[in-house]
Amino acid sequence: MITRDEIIDKIADLEKEYVDFMVEHFTDWEVWANISQRMADGEQVGEEEIPEAFLLEYKLIRVILKMDAVGKFDWNNPELREIFGKLAQSPLYYFLAEMVTEIALRLARHAGVKTFVEIGAGRGNLTATMLQKMDGNNVQTDLIVTDADSIVVENIARLKDRYPRINIETMLWDINTSPPDDLIGKIQHPCLVYERASILYANIPAVENIAAIADIVVFEDMYNYTGKLYAYDEIVKKIGAFPLFYREMKPLLEKCYSDHFMFDLRAQQHLGYPNTTMLIALK
Ligand SMILES: C[S@@+](CC[C@H](N)C(=O)[O-])C[C@H]1O[C@@H](n2cnc3c(N)ncnc32)[C@H](O)[C@@H]1O
Repeated sequence: MITRDEIIDKIADLEKEYVDFMVEHFTDWEVWANISQRMADGEQVGEEEIPEAFLLEYKLIRVILKMDAVGKFDWNNPELREIFGKLAQSPLYYFLAEMVTEIALRLARHAGVKTFVEIGAGRGNLTATMLQKMDGNNVQTDLIVTDADSIVVENIARLKDRYPRINIETMLWDINTSPPDDLIGKIQHPCLVYERASILYANIPAVENIAAIADIVVFEDMYNYTGKLYAYDEIVKKIGAFPLFYREMKPLLEKCYSDHFMFDLRAQQHLGYPNTTMLIALK
């Protein structure tokens, strides 16, 4: 099996690119943390005060607080849907998709991965990037795309036709439960599981369920590395986003994998930022 040192060697250029991007993107995180506290305290804060990198997050928090004030949360609120649509198309999200998929493909090449599993695929935005890269690089590895929500089947069906050379399957899997037998039956090892922004909606114990099938994981999420929460963390809890405390994840990761590391730790250390955003673990 591939080791951490070999992984670091194969993706050193990506680590530099990722850390540089994150340091620039999150540089004003403390300004934003203070503003989110003022918003939580009921102050109306205008857009002109918001550092550009946090503008969509600001709009999200504003709409969550608005709904919370009237005691009625609605996922179909048009403003909320528009913000999520814009987030999914934002430069940050494009960058993250590029990075997760590029890392997954490089590790797969060097570890002889036979099955990719994507979890929490939702609308298939990350899947689309993965398929594009697999097709462009003529990668024949099987891809199983999963989500707890059955809408994933429809969403991925739309993508499947564009990539006839790739063996793509879609399955339902709530990662808060053990992987279903039919999923286990389709996996050839080594298996690499990747994702973006879905574990924070499932919560920490999902890590152990995923380890039941994964030999390598590449997880793009928000890991609370310092243990300190800010107002924006408290507000997004209202829409079911859990803070993924690294101190709680670590024992589980150590139990399930022989090694793990935070790919972007240098960015966290440079900024004093509370989060790391990319976890790699291997058996
Ligand atoms: C913010 S979306 C991210 C979608 C996609 N990963 C992306 O980056 O474009 C979160 C996704 O996580 C999925 N999800 C939430 N809880 C889950 C669970 N317990 N098991 C599997 N998927 C889950 C949701 O259905 C949704 O598709």
